[in-house]
Amino acid sequence: MNLKDLFINFFVSKGHKQIPSAPLVPENDPSVLFNTAGMQPLIPYLMGEPHPYGKRLCDYQKCVRLTDLDSIGDKTHHTFFEMLGNWSLGDYFKKESISYSFEFLTSVLKIPVERLAITVYKGDEKIPRDDVSAEAWRSLGIPEKRIAYLGKEDNFWIPGDSGPCGGDTEIFYWRSTDPIPEAFDPEDDRWVEIWNNVFMEYHQDSDGNVTELSQKNVDTGMGLERVVAVLEGVEDNYLTTIWKPIKEKLESISGKTYEGNETSFRIIMDHVRTSVFIAADPAHIRPSNTDQGYILRRLIRRAIRHARNLEMDIHSNFLEELANVVIDEYKVYYHELTENKDFVLEVLKQEQIKFARTLEKGLKIFEKVAQKSDFIDGETAFHLYDTFGFPIELTKEEASSRHMKVDEEGFERKFLEHQEKSRTASKGKFKGGLSGNSEIETKYHTATHLLNAALKEVIGPSVHQLGSNITEERLRFDFPCDHKLTEEEKEKVENLVNKWIEEALPVTKEIMKKEDAIKSGAECMFIEKYPDEVTVYSIGNISKELCGGPHVSNIKELGHFKIKKEESSSAGVRRIKGVLE
Ligand code: SER
Repeated sequence: MNLKDLFINFFVSKGHKQIPSAPLVPENDPSVLFNTAGMQPLIPYLMGEPHPYGKRLCDYQKCVRLTDLDSIGDKTHHTFFEMLGNWSLGDYFKKESISYSFEFLTSVLKIPVERLAITVYKGDEKIPRDDVSAEAWRSLGIPEKRIAYLGKEDNFWIPGDSGPCGGDTEIFYWRSTDPIPEAFDPEDDRWVEIWNNVFMEYHQDSDGNVTELSQKNVDTGMGLERVVAVLEGVEDNYLTTIWKPIKEKLESISGKTYEGNETSFRIIMDHVRTSVFIAADPAHIRPSNTDQGYILRRLIRRAIRHARNLEMDIHSNFLEELANVVIDEYKVYYHELTENKDFVLEVLKQEQIKFARTLEKGLKIFEKVAQKSDFIDGETAFHLYDTFGFPIELTKEEASSRHMKVDEEGFERKFLEHQEKSRTASKGKFKGGLSGNSEIETKYHTATHLLNAALKEVIGPSVHQLGSNITEERLRFDFPCDHKLTEEEKEKVENLVNKWIEEALPVTKEIMKKEDAIKSGAECMFIEKYPDEVTVYSIGNISKELCGGPHVSNIKELGHFKIKKEESSSAGVRRIKGVLE
């Protein structure tokens, strides 16, 4: 039986209900592109909302972590991975959680106690040392010398900057064939972390204020690929049985062996598996130049680039063949792989056709530039992107392998200039409103700035845009806020927006230096994403934001604003849908 089944069976036998893996693309959380941990889809329930399956849950959750994208190619990193987890939502706490973990590891997986070591939270000024967990471990036979007390950097878990959180206890496994030292040294990397039990008792808001949660929860997470590697006694995660079928397929298609070609093999294997899972997700992501679609594009194109490294025929159906192996391996656990198989294969094929055509020409540009200089200027990087389909990250990678540098800022400047141009062009072309930025969408765009400003006045200055989406029918705006808006608050917001519209305030556009824009108080979401010169849109003196536009020239054109819906988008995030009438 494999680890997923063993894990689920064990926790079901302890009264847990298995919940299905949530989609990779979060349904209600615009602040992240992909689910990055098993607990992420459970945040509302950790905060106190009753879960329809009860108080004891377990699952295997598909996750994608992009922070590791650049590390793919080494022995231990993956963009996609599965996380095994069990939860108590205000039911059992530290002692039972620890004894379940211990029983699973020692009785089900038959790991000898001698190979285990533990870290627990040593506490801080606000939270006491976790002696309860330490005592629970000792009572199970873990000697004191194998318990290390660590601080916030190591033994405290919070999803991002704010949310349900708490101290944790982590379980380590002695992976080496060297004799096992009596005392545990967490700095010794022959000890590898295999399981993390978080005791969520607190909530931390975005200002750092900590409050107690209404219920005490347990949230555990065990990374499947790492634990399988440990159990199978290999140090290279890509040498486990998880990867065997796809590795063998790649060896047979390429005629090359894994040994000696590890980096390209790992990149291709990892990126194809992740691409299959992203494309199979219910959100039906296709390669594009934004958000999840852009990640999918980068993964597929980088896999193709490395296939060329292995001297494979990049026009052949190798992606399809590899994808089929991934689908076969995982379809028992993830039915969406079978349901969306045609879509997945089509996505891979189309993207491959596009990129395989231009890859050679793009690489020639590198050779040409490399002959005279060690620098790819912004214009060339943009040309590689726009004409030859090289994501900037790929350009950087190619450059660095030739010891060349890339003018990233120059690239960004070109990129934004181009965006502005094509926006203006499409605005002219589709005046009737078929494509992006029709007249009505432009109005919604401006109304979004007014809504943001009004919410700041009514709710408080901490309101800012976390997500925005505009269609011909409505605007949608997500912002941080810890409560459901009252009728009175909604009315105040509407009235304020409509009062400004009646004042017929002009919308002005200025091109400014980034620092000056920030100094002048202009609101901006992702400062590092902007070039040195930015566009700032102001509405009278009530709103000033860095923004690509387009906007109406006077807000009297907007008519009348109405909030249609106000709902929770995820923990601590509210969502407003509004219309112009
Ligand atoms: N949230 C914790 C983690 O991601 C345990 O699930 O490690």
